[in-house]
Amino acid sequence: ERIWAVIPAAGIGARMNSDIPKQYLKIEDKTILEYSINRFLEHSKIYKVVVALSPNDSYWEELPYKDNPRVLTTTGGVDRVDSVAAALAFIRESEGAESDWVMVHDAARPCLSSRHIDNLITSKESSPDGATLAVGAIDTVKQANKRQTIEKTIDRDMVWLAQTPQFFPLGTLKHAIDSALKEGQTVTDEASAMEFAGYHPSLVIGSRKNIKITEQEDLLLASIWLSHGID
Ligand code: CTP
Ligand code: MG
Repeated sequence: ERIWAVIPAAGIGARMNSDIPKQYLKIEDKTILEYSINRFLEHSKIYKVVVALSPNDSYWEELPYKDNPRVLTTTGGVDRVDSVAAALAFIRESEGAESDWVMVHDAARPCLSSRHIDNLITSKESSPDGATLAVGAIDTVKQANKRQTIEKTIDRDMVWLAQTPQFFPLGTLKHAIDSALKEGQTVTDEASAMEFAGYHPSLVIGSRKNIKITEQEDLLLASIWLSHGID
């Protein structure tokens, strides 16, 4: 079977406060989105990369993928989950097969190591419900009420912070997302849609270097990791 990569890149990056969407900001000579895409293109086990773009996107054309048969684009939606759902529908309508798997990765995470793509692919043998990269909490974790008063301290060994890529069977993930959306569930990552559908995805240990660029201060950190190499 084949492994597709899906890259939701249709967000506006509101928290970044920049003129252009954050995935199109440059670090050295390349945009953040290019780093994210290239990690999958370089990987021999990834079949094709599907990038979900905003209907108003005016930056994609300047990226060097026009003649690359392994890079396809589709139109994303209002929320991240809508962009992922659109990409999955696009794959199913083109050449997706029931036995295919899909790796969903945020455009805004350019510091992914190919080692972690390998580890996710390997996890498939023991995790039929799929898996997500995640890291353990470093700080002590507090649960608080709306007034920011602590209610309790949560056992840190039970807390994991989900990253991407998240890796699932294509057909199962598509059904899970479609039914979660139909039932009005909030879906902030693929694993949560799978959980809602009754599956139990695994955790594959990621890296704290695999940051999601969200605010201005994250740019410097990403540029440091990228210039030092991320393996
Ligand atoms: N994304 C998407 N479609 C949306 C919203 C987000 O494809 N409607 C993508 C973003 O482009 C990003 C990834 O999902 O690569 C993770 O989302 P996030 O970091 O929240 O990006 P933005 O939504 O763009 O940023 P913000 O929430 O600050 O506006
Ligand atoms: Mg967002």
